[in-house]
Amino acid sequence: MLLNNWYPAGRATEIGATPYQTRMLGLDFVLFRDATGKAHCLSDVCCHRGAALHRGQVNVSEVHGACIACPYHGWEFNTAGACVKIPALGEEITIPKRARIDSYPVTEKYGLVFVFLGDAPEADRPAIPDWFEPFYSASDRRLVTYEYTYTEVNWARLGENSVDTSHPSFVHKQFGNRLSPKANIVPITEEQYGATVSRTRAAPPLSGKSAAMQKLLPADRKTTRVTLHFSMVGLTEMLYQEMTPEISQVLFSSRVPVDEFTTKSYGFQARNFLLEPEQDEERLKGLMQAAVEDHDIVRLVKPKFTPKSTTDEFLIESDGMELMFRRKAQEWARTRGALDGAALAAQEQEKVAVIPSPARRIDPKGWVHPAVPMLQTTADVKAAE
Ligand code: FES
Ligand SMILES: [Fe+2]
Repeated sequence: MLLNNWYPAGRATEIGATPYQTRMLGLDFVLFRDATGKAHCLSDVCCHRGAALHRGQVNVSEVHGACIACPYHGWEFNTAGACVKIPALGEEITIPKRARIDSYPVTEKYGLVFVFLGDAPEADRPAIPDWFEPFYSASDRRLVTYEYTYTEVNWARLGENSVDTSHPSFVHKQFGNRLSPKANIVPITEEQYGATVSRTRAAPPLSGKSAAMQKLLPADRKTTRVTLHFSMVGLTEMLYQEMTPEISQVLFSSRVPVDEFTTKSYGFQARNFLLEPEQDEERLKGLMQAAVEDHDIVRLVKPKFTPKSTTDEFLIESDGMELMFRRKAQEWARTRGALDGAALAAQEQEKVAVIPSPARRIDPKGWVHPAVPMLQTTADVKAAE
């Protein structure tokens, strides 16, 4: 699981002045807002004796601002993760520096609260893609949101599926059902952390569409134009589907690996047709069906993790985007770091480990919880030889 990346921790509306717990990359976090409404994210494990901070409460004081008070012995941690109060020691003591927990950078975009899981300084935190910006705030579009949790699937296998341009004809009934499955190979535009591909494909038959869509779309429609973007930043992707020059919908999602085998997707659909709110249910039903269809295929793909070598599978020319996804994931792991989820899970019952936050890079000594085990990349192995 990739480190030094932004991940969606929840919808902005879910996070308020009371502690909100979430699990990301196999670890627990607590989020809350201060009096100004700014969201903060801390490791959920108290450095005293390991209690779950999200079961505590947020106290606001003039001196320390918003602090989370541990439910076990009342230690209080400010938004930077520093302990500012140890009730059992009284008011007069100077609190040791080691009484601190990791605090992670937070930003909000698209109504999501994103947390930066890693220790990179601000200048080295890539921006969450802007592609969806014009559609998210477009007044002529109707926006619906949804969440879907993929179980029994590794996030990278899921990512490969999303960028796979030749599976819809087989997996998704609404988008083609084996209609002209021959993929026309189109150039992929590579970007720093992802890629884009655009292609025109045969329009799926109207009979597979909902009654409302059948009425809307011209009967003689031959093609549909699709543009797909993905980025490792926030595990984001956007699918722009132009059914006719006037009728289009945009699907955007950002994902977070809850652990190695569970991934939560925060999705959006922005459509410029059937704008009435009563149409949402039908539209969402279609999205959910597609998610279930993908899930049913991908959760049984073997092996669970993407093979290290491409020769372990028989890849063909039309698998270009999947290969690009793999390459971008590998590049990220090599340059920005990746967490060893199996090692983390194996030691979970014995000891606490946390993702190093930016404060650790500045001041690496004097933390109670050690850093998570990291995945060895080919570059590390070569360097060690
Ligand atoms: S475990 Fe948190 S204060 Fe003791
Ligand atoms: Fe799919």
